[in-house]
Amino acid sequence: MDTLHPMWKVKTGPMFDHARDLYQDRFAAEPEWVIFAPGRVNLLGEHTDYNGGFVFPAAIDKGVWLAGGRADGVTTLLSDQLGEGTAFDARSVMPGDVKDWSKFGAGMAWVLRDFINEVPNINATITSNLPLGSGVSSSAAIEMALGLAFLEAGGASIPSKGLAILGQRCENLYVGVNCGIMDQMASACGVEGGAIFMDTRTLEIVPASIPSDLAIVLLDTKKSRELAGSAYNVRRAECEEACRILGVPQLRDATLEMVLSHKGAMLENVFKRAKHVVTENNRTLEFRTALDEGNREAIGALMHGSHQSLRLDYEVSSAELDAMAETAWSTPGCVGARMTGAGFGGSCVALVEADQAQAFCDEVVARYVEQTGLPGSALICKPSAGAHRM
Ligand code: GLA
Repeated sequence: MDTLHPMWKVKTGPMFDHARDLYQDRFAAEPEWVIFAPGRVNLLGEHTDYNGGFVFPAAIDKGVWLAGGRADGVTTLLSDQLGEGTAFDARSVMPGDVKDWSKFGAGMAWVLRDFINEVPNINATITSNLPLGSGVSSSAAIEMALGLAFLEAGGASIPSKGLAILGQRCENLYVGVNCGIMDQMASACGVEGGAIFMDTRTLEIVPASIPSDLAIVLLDTKKSRELAGSAYNVRRAECEEACRILGVPQLRDATLEMVLSHKGAMLENVFKRAKHVVTENNRTLEFRTALDEGNREAIGALMHGSHQSLRLDYEVSSAELDAMAETAWSTPGCVGARMTGAGFGGSCVALVEADQAQAFCDEVVARYVEQTGLPGSALICKPSAGAHRM
């Protein structure tokens, strides 16, 4: 007789199995559900999301797998990368109560309490193949997975965009990182086989397919970044200062001409930040057309322009990100490459001729390691669907 629970008939790979096995070991029971939430790369549109602008991320097939079930007592979370977190009561936990990585769960429970009558406690084990601190949104993925887990446990559901907004609220108000909306939206609303063009003001999303002869390669510098660090918040404040001088609600509403004509009224850094944001918004709009047409030359020029603008005007690149991008640009098969995510360390993303992708990865890593002495890595990523129960 086939005694296997129907859920396990679909074998979904080692990470899925690992999450389930961890759950069985830790909680001596079968999980009720397994959830996948992806990380993301951003192909173009960096530091535009908190300026009401455009972004072009793709959810990837690397992410977090969560095996979970309802709990009688408090919420207990165990991560393969981070160990067991502080237990908390999802029905009453408040900001400041949980300080270790379990704060992502505590924060999601706290924000969800405004939307569903009762947030039940859960047991969950989380496995991840997203490198931490690499700028590929591991925290957004954990938030989306935990948010879905609490919803499953409560027999409730909310639309993906709503979950993304709650994830951002968790990150801003509970975790204490003043991020924009891109990462949570990408993890919640990604589409299989493509990227998403998103207007961060209206949260309108348009799926954009990636030509099948192009591969997405994630190039990790292995020099981790500190997003909560003050530099991100300083950039945000500089953008707000630029808006005040330009008389616009957000930099989305400014043009390059406006920024150039107000140069004399701005501190140099404020001018440079504003220039990056308005030119990056334009590049993102142009990138949409370039990708749609498979125009290699334009894709390459726009990604290159974005990296240089982030390096020189927004000043969020690093020696390692520059070394990785420059190595990618001069390696056969590269169509375009740039730093991705907040910067200050982390990863680059490259679009590469699919039939040369493996050779590209090998060569870039070898040259990067030789140049920097850091154990950089390259991963070919498939664009994936947003967070979902498996
Ligand atoms: C981080 C933030 C995002 C976005 C990017 C920069 O990933 O979480 O909201 O601001 O940096 O584009």
